[in-house]
Amino acid sequence: MLRTSVRHFSSTSRRLAAESIASMEAPFAHGIRVSAVQGIASDGLVSAIGKTPLIKLKQLSADTGCTILGKAEFQNPGGSVKDRAALFCVLDAEARGQLKPGGTVVEGTAGNTGIGLAHVCRSKGYKLVIYMPNTQSQGKIDLLRLLGADVRPVPAVPFDDPQNYNHQAKRHAEGLENAVWTNQFDNIANRQAHIETTGPEIWAQTEGKLDAFTCATGTGGTLAGMTRYLKTKSDGRVKCYLADPPGSVLHSYIQSGGKLQDRSGGSITEGIGQGRVTDNLRPDIDLLDGSVHIPDEKSIEMVYRCLDEEGLYLGASSSLNVVAAKEVAEKLGKGHTVVTILCDGAYRYADRLFSRKWLEQKNLLGAIPERLQKYIVLP
Ligand SMILES: Cc1ncc(COP(=O)(O)O)c(C=O)c1O
Repeated sequence: MLRTSVRHFSSTSRRLAAESIASMEAPFAHGIRVSAVQGIASDGLVSAIGKTPLIKLKQLSADTGCTILGKAEFQNPGGSVKDRAALFCVLDAEARGQLKPGGTVVEGTAGNTGIGLAHVCRSKGYKLVIYMPNTQSQGKIDLLRLLGADVRPVPAVPFDDPQNYNHQAKRHAEGLENAVWTNQFDNIANRQAHIETTGPEIWAQTEGKLDAFTCATGTGGTLAGMTRYLKTKSDGRVKCYLADPPGSVLHSYIQSGGKLQDRSGGSITEGIGQGRVTDNLRPDIDLLDGSVHIPDEKSIEMVYRCLDEEGLYLGASSSLNVVAAKEVAEKLGKGHTVVTILCDGAYRYADRLFSRKWLEQKNLLGAIPERLQKYIVLP
């Protein structure tokens, strides 16, 4: 009797298990699929960089009658799009024989590139030295130090001063054996990261059915690499636009056909805005179809809108990109697909972007619609 019921139980449970596995392998009702494509990041952290989702911004798509897509670069291991550039600069130095086991990477940066490099260097066993202006927040210094970097804050002096943090980084690397200055602004391995990874990912994710791309520039690596890739792949069909914050010269440069370099104003956005055409941008700037200038009022409003409408917690450069994508969509008209980059999350900027006092100081409180002011949770 006992034996029969055990047998009966086990055959029932076998059937139920088979059914439940079959249902597990089917797409979930919620639309989440288990994908074998990504597999195991077998080379450690560095092989987990990239392959980020392309997220449809539903409300903005509905508002414009277009499909607006954001590449979720905040999902990279270091939390930003700059992980890709950091990895490619290190791989390039290895390939050139400038960096061998136990070597040192040196960069002048206060931002996401340093964080990306710190992760890549730890993963690959290199030392990392970061020079940055001593005006940067203690939080940034602490984060880089806890990621293992040797951080050297130096006086904030203009670029033409030999004591500028970039020149100090270069000299430091030159004075060491087995060391490289990654030089993110003018090292075109940065742009190459987007030609070889971001571009092909977006092309595959949209099955080539995109009409336009837009993003802002810091080094210009993302915009240049994406523009080169998309123009080549689509035979010039996909339109590419620069998105520019106040204080950057590039919008006036593009609008005037390379004559004007208006640098008036400043911006709350971090990591973007440029005073010159970098080596990363130079080969591709003439391929651009135009540029859009986005004031801070629109960028900050979009930080709050993306949070409220899309559930996306974005930094200001990503929000500026989203505003630009919306404006490009409106310009192209209904039915088009526009892609942009969600460079990083708001985590590193929350004490400013969601602080009433800071918003007042920057004269941006009025830019947040009444219905969204509930998100201003910090004094
Ligand atoms: C937050 C953020 N957004 C955008 C960018 C710009 O990317 P790129 O240097 O590829 O022009 C950076 C660059 O550091 C950044 O830190």
